[in-house]
Amino acid sequence: MTRVRLLAALLLTTLAAPAPSLARPKDLAQAGHIRARWEVRQLRRAVRNTALQDLQAIKNGCTASVLAGRTAQGRAVVVRKVADPECASRLHNAFFILAHQIGAGDLVLPATTVSSGQLGGTAMVTAHAGSAFQPGNRAPADWLTRVAEEVRIKAALLDLLTAQQDRISKNLMVSARGEVRLIDHDFSLGHVHEWNHPSLFFPGRKLGYDPASLHDLPGPLRQLTTAIATADTAELMRRYGLDRAEARLMRARAQDVQRLGLTGAISALRSTGQRPLLLLASAMSVHSRAGYLRTGDTVKAIPGQSQPNHLVFGPYLRYAPGRYSIRFELRSATPAGRMATLEVNDAVSRRVLASRTLSAADFAAGQWREFELPVDVPAGDNALEFRVAWHGSADLEVAKIRVR
Ligand SMILES: Nc1ncnc2c1ncn2[C@@H]1O[C@H](COP(=O)(O)OP(=O)(O)OP(=O)(O)O)[C@@H](O)[C@H]1O
Ligand SMILES: [Mg+2]
Repeated sequence: MTRVRLLAALLLTTLAAPAPSLARPKDLAQAGHIRARWEVRQLRRAVRNTALQDLQAIKNGCTASVLAGRTAQGRAVVVRKVADPECASRLHNAFFILAHQIGAGDLVLPATTVSSGQLGGTAMVTAHAGSAFQPGNRAPADWLTRVAEEVRIKAALLDLLTAQQDRISKNLMVSARGEVRLIDHDFSLGHVHEWNHPSLFFPGRKLGYDPASLHDLPGPLRQLTTAIATADTAELMRRYGLDRAEARLMRARAQDVQRLGLTGAISALRSTGQRPLLLLASAMSVHSRAGYLRTGDTVKAIPGQSQPNHLVFGPYLRYAPGRYSIRFELRSATPAGRMATLEVNDAVSRRVLASRTLSAADFAAGQWREFELPVDVPAGDNALEFRVAWHGSADLEVAKIRVR
């Protein structure tokens, strides 16, 4: 071959960018990583610099508006307009890489971001699951029953490692053959929202695997868990495109699986509540986008700067039935109007078990006050959170919550 033909052949191979050959991968995790990155690159190429066609709204939801369309070359894609598309697509692709590393790349679809006037700014774009798939909440019930046990175990591990908070049936697509595509990873790896749904792949839930049938994690799942549990933070950040906190959370989850096994790590997620218990507000869950301030051990809301919402929430503990007293320590520099609603919420039954509304008259300017909220916890499974809803009328600071 002449040099010119050799160069031409090389150029053609690069342009066509064939899938990396995985005939004899050095190891599955490494091959999966290469493959996942390659698929993301292919998608980015397909959607960059091309106007999308046949855009049709799928839904206008509380956190995203979603459209289906296709590229000029006919590739079907889904556009998600979310508050932070870079973050959403980064979290999604970390999940995508992990899935490929255990040989389950087909459980997820690649994602990227595109910026265009047509989309009104930057949006997240994923490959379309295809017409054979329906969202899990709308698919016929027997489609879900066909999801293989092996898939349930893999998905449970992936959801655990990535701390998924929103894996309910509408956040997966399923086909008549029980094939699965996992979607919507916005609330994971420490990006929390008010809700906290244990993954439906966890034992006892709708698509839960059977813990009695799982003695040892299959080899590739165990190997990946070990690799994550023993990696340093910088390496995890690089490998999965994560920030420091996300990488640490993923490693902590992998270490739990190593120590306790998959089922053990899942049960340990919702630990048993105790009394007495002292929760510092700064260590509780706080909405990241509501404009609240963590100041030392407290969390603060400021009118004009913060959005009315739950100032603190969590920690989702399982309490034995009985009567408890919850004390909230709060203060306000300039109390006014309806100040706050204290709540004990059960995330399992989705019922507020006790609540108390506070007004300006309950406060003395600048003074810490302790407010009591008694609660009767009924028998049965529960995941309790102690919340302070802020209504926006005046500044409010939460220091501590005590359970007795
Ligand atoms: N990759 C995909 N392929 C096909 N359809 C998709 C895909 N991603 C999302 N959809 C469709 O869009 C809907 C909403 O998607 P998604 O869950 O990502 O957005 P969301 O705002 O979080 O929605 P929701 O609040 O309903 O969970 C899905 O139920 C599904 O019908
Ligand atoms: Mg969703």
